[in-house]
Amino acid sequence: MGIFVVMLGPPGAGKGTQAKLLAKDLNIPHVSSGDLFRDHLGRKTELGLLAKGYMDRGDLVPDDVTVGMVVERIGRPDCQEGVILDGFPRTLSQAAALDGALSERGQSVTVVPLVQVADEEIVKRLTARRVCRNCGAVYNLVFNPPAVEGVCDVCGGELYQRDDDNTETVRNRLYTYHKETSPLIGYYFAKGLLVEVDGKQAIEAVQASLRVVLEMAGK
Ligand code: AP5
Ligand code: MG
Ligand code: ZN
Repeated sequence: MGIFVVMLGPPGAGKGTQAKLLAKDLNIPHVSSGDLFRDHLGRKTELGLLAKGYMDRGDLVPDDVTVGMVVERIGRPDCQEGVILDGFPRTLSQAAALDGALSERGQSVTVVPLVQVADEEIVKRLTARRVCRNCGAVYNLVFNPPAVEGVCDVCGGELYQRDDDNTETVRNRLYTYHKETSPLIGYYFAKGLLVEVDGKQAIEAVQASLRVVLEMAGK
């Protein structure tokens, strides 16, 4: 049957941080739509250049482009036993497309943890986020700083600030979340898949809560 986890929550809730830990623990891939777009952008593909305009404003990339990219990724052999999805789906139409793609292979979404953090806290977190250019490890200058400023603890790579982590774009990303993504809360609640997790706890405590959620979902 496999395990298909959809990490839901506002920008900066800690979806990526938590998804990486869960994926390692369960030994299944972590698929982040934002990371896939940034990878395309780094390689200057047509898709990456198209996505950049939307990402820099904090708007959503159009559904057809996004769905095509993610469905292709989760169709690969390493995702047959499951995947931790992070940042996808983000609209009702993306959620329906995911259901369709999984049901074609006799599978379905297992559980949807909703990582909750208040808007004010998110602006603080995201403007202090730094990411490793080499391995993608995520830090926070306030809550989770690297041992040496500007240098990745894991691989020694250079840390950078994402172009969309400025106050103005973060506010628009939050607006977009409330307007376009929050309807998914009702969508997954109605399917009995939604479980709320307090994202304001420390990183390790959020991870422990998620482990309980997955165990209760039968994994
Ligand atoms: P994406 O890359 O998905 O960004 P996002 O959803 O805005 O989420 P973030 O990555 O900012 O936050 P996160 O929840 O992963 O938090 P993190 O763990 O890093 O999307 C970027 C853009 O791509 C979108 O705006 C859109 O344009 C486009 N896009 C992507 N997917 C799309 C889709 N499906 N459809 C259409 N367009 C799409 O943590 C944040 C910070 O907080 C870090 O510094 C971290 O160290 C810190 N932190 C984490 N946990 C804690 C904690 N418990 N306590 C204190 N600090 C913490
Ligand atoms: Mg992320
Ligand atoms: Zn690194």
